[in-house]
Amino acid sequence: MIEIKGLTISFDGETVLENIDLIIRKNEITTIVGQSGCGKSVLMKTIEGLITPETGTVSVDGNNIFSLSRKDLNSTRRKLAMLFQGAALLDSLNVYQNVALPLMEHSKLSEDKILALVTDKLKLLGLIDILDKMPSELSGGMKKRVALARAIIMQPEYIIYDEPTTGLDPIIANEIVELILKLHNNFAVTSIIITHDLNCIRKIKGRIAMIHEKKIVFDGTYNDFINDNGVYIKKFINMN
Ligand SMILES: Nc1ncnc2c1ncn2[C@@H]1O[C@H](COP(=O)(O)OP(=O)(O)O)[C@@H](O)[C@H]1O
Ligand SMILES: [Mg+2]
Repeated sequence: MIEIKGLTISFDGETVLENIDLIIRKNEITTIVGQSGCGKSVLMKTIEGLITPETGTVSVDGNNIFSLSRKDLNSTRRKLAMLFQGAALLDSLNVYQNVALPLMEHSKLSEDKILALVTDKLKLLGLIDILDKMPSELSGGMKKRVALARAIIMQPEYIIYDEPTTGLDPIIANEIVELILKLHNNFAVTSIIITHDLNCIRKIKGRIAMIHEKKIVFDGTYNDFINDNGVYIKKFINMN
């Protein structure tokens, strides 16, 4: 479980998130929604420990990540996989090297074992015979799949996806959502999907937390969200 309590984040005196409380339950899909610029990516980076809040705590499985030693923070981080906005592949490395990177850095597995794991994950994501390709040779959808393969290579317990469908055409976007659901079910992970894409929200039908004007203004089921009469929610749905 990830428990966010009283979280306030400001940059240069400008508050982006204010007194946020949110619980992300194990094995569920939580969708965090809100308009561009509302602080979704900031929230994600805070969960990862990349941004230090002004006040508040983020506990992963009971440990507040801001009071952990470097060693414990690193092992907690290993439970979390992030799929950053854009694919964030390293352009100078080929597909194999990109996906293998976390294993090269954090495991003592042999090259053969790493190759087998990488090939297996790529296959699961529908990617065959692309180990030697460079990111520049891949389409947007393929890059996302490779980034997904890299995200799951360390067998994370939590996967956080930042705008996984943004910038993709609708068919590819749907395929990516299908893959997210497949990974969720195959690996019994906890999935956190940050998005402002209503199609993605509709397909996932997970629990929804909405950020608006620095606060969580909705926290409930997909059906309750769609039928909610709140002005912000109606506006968000109609803008999509
Ligand atoms: N490192 C940073 N320094 C200063 N301002 C930031 C930083 N990161 C994000 N912001 C600001 O915080 C706000 C929320 O950004 P972000 O979380 O990226 O929005 P989104 O919901 O679109 O992901 C924006 O106004 C952005 O300019
Ligand atoms: Mg963002």
